Amino acid sequence: MHQDIERILIDQQVILKRLDLLAARIDSDFDPQRELVVIALLNGAFMFMADLLRRIRRPLIIDCLRVASYHGGTTSSGQVKFLDNWLPEVNQRDVLILDDILDSGRTLHAVTNRIKESGANSVKSCVLLDKQCQRAVDYECDYHGFQIANEFVVGYGLDYQEKYRNLPYVGILKRELFAPNSASPPSV
Ligand code: IMP
Ligand code: MG
Repeated sequence: MHQDIERILIDQQVILKRLDLLAARIDSDFDPQRELVVIALLNGAFMFMADLLRRIRRPLIIDCLRVASYHGGTTSSGQVKFLDNWLPEVNQRDVLILDDILDSGRTLHAVTNRIKESGANSVKSCVLLDKQCQRAVDYECDYHGFQIANEFVVGYGLDYQEKYRNLPYVGILKRELFAPNSASPPSV
């Protein structure tokens, strides 16, 4: 796996240090007297979720939601698919959505709308990575770990065709592995 990585963009120690700060901010921003429901988007957020949430001290209700914003290859469907036919109970509750990366914004925009329609009191989001220059819809997250340029990254939960999720760092995939003759990263 490591031989497929052009270079490490964010190593594990840097990620974990950043998560200490993010967790402290979340702890201080949300009223501990109110219930907070955290919903992690699978599969990408699994590692971020585990490392971030174990650093949060306040009580949480934790759930997951499976969504897909593409068909597993490199071309975007432009649509967000909800792969579960149920939603966690969010009525009257404060919700914090976790995702691996905010790119076009379509996924978090769609999930936020769905959760609001289900009666949540408030909906915020927290992502590990924010590719801010890539937005296709008007959406910004409330918390991010790192802003990154438009590079195709894998590891720490992020995949290319379902591979590389278990790398402990965020790395840039060698270009020849996804686009032998292309100058741009895959769109997802
Ligand atoms: P959005 O809906 O375009 O914001 O995309 C969010 C999803 O696209 C993420 O949850 C990832 O699954 C995927 N994605 C976007 N950029 C990358 C990347 O650089 N590497 C791996 N997956 C990515
Ligand atoms: Mg994902």
